[in-house]
Amino acid sequence: MKSYKIAVLPGDGTGPEVINEGLKVLEAVSKRHGFKTELQHYDLGGERYKKTGEVLPDSVLNELRKFNTIYLGAIGHPDVKPGILEKGLLLKLRFSLEQYINLRPVKLFPGVDCPLKDKKPEDIDFVVVRENNEGLYVGEGEFINKGTPDEVAVQISRNTRRGVERCLRYAFEFTRKRNSKKKTLTLCGKTNVLTYAFDLWERAFHEIGAKDYPDIKRDYAHVDATCMWMVKNPEWFDVIVTDNMFGDIITDLAAMIQGGMGIAAGGNINPQGVSMFEPIGGSAPKYTGKNVINPLAAICAGQMMLETLGEDKAAAEIEESVKWVTAKKLKSLAAGKMGYGTREVGDLVVKGLDPKARN
Ligand code: IPM
Ligand code: MN
Repeated sequence: MKSYKIAVLPGDGTGPEVINEGLKVLEAVSKRHGFKTELQHYDLGGERYKKTGEVLPDSVLNELRKFNTIYLGAIGHPDVKPGILEKGLLLKLRFSLEQYINLRPVKLFPGVDCPLKDKKPEDIDFVVVRENNEGLYVGEGEFINKGTPDEVAVQISRNTRRGVERCLRYAFEFTRKRNSKKKTLTLCGKTNVLTYAFDLWERAFHEIGAKDYPDIKRDYAHVDATCMWMVKNPEWFDVIVTDNMFGDIITDLAAMIQGGMGIAAGGNINPQGVSMFEPIGGSAPKYTGKNVINPLAAICAGQMMLETLGEDKAAAEIEESVKWVTAKKLKSLAAGKMGYGTREVGDLVVKGLDPKARN
């Protein structure tokens, strides 16, 4: 029987609660599809940092390289200065494991309240491919004359041809495989102002596209216009590819139009290495331990994890069940307003894996 070694990093706040539900669903679906999971838990996060001062010891990082995949809950602790865990854990994992793609599907599930008037599930179904290892996130820059009236703060966006190209190729391949009616890859940039960074992106986009992906339609939108279209005409998008910073920003907007953080999942992907899947909503400290947080984002992250491992049928079954739960069961996706508790929602998804139970 196939077996996958999964490193589980529940992390902070509501992370452990939602990961528990995700694991419950994985366990159930693995039984139905004849594969096994070997889980190993790691207590990385704010609590461990407070106790030991450790964020991500090298020994742990090296152990993580040996897993088939990583399942992450949430990072961020109210008592820890912002930046320490984000940079020291989340970004360090993304960079060290060369997870150069941040994949964020944006799909409005049936029964989910959409803040956009008149938009239906068929109108909101696109994917953002965010570059995940470069750009402004490299942390390069300097202060000049810090603390004086003449202070200058410089923050550099680094874009390498190699880094941009591998991201674009992934996005083209993804668009081809997705094979929607639109078959369109939109480059989201800011070529009118960021005339170095997005000049490189734009040149590479058209060179690679024309040469190797003539079957994919190429489109371009500035990042500000992308935000506008996402609200006005989200049905125009199929796959969007963009840099790290713009990808961070537009995917929060995108999460809102698909019904909120309760359902938004993402994958940090190294196509040749160890990938990591997470709900993108954060640790939500105020809801911790109350059994009110929505676990669907974590469950959907588990679904993406299975897709990446090649368990497509099991992944599809999770999606069908989640759709059933949003359409027929939940009152809302918001924490505390679902009409069910966190654990009950996990149980419902397990139940709905069986097509007969969904009738
Ligand atoms: C995300 C988060 C992270 C990011 C933070 C926590 C560093 O906002 O995954 O989108 O900016 O990438
Ligand atoms: Mn973000």
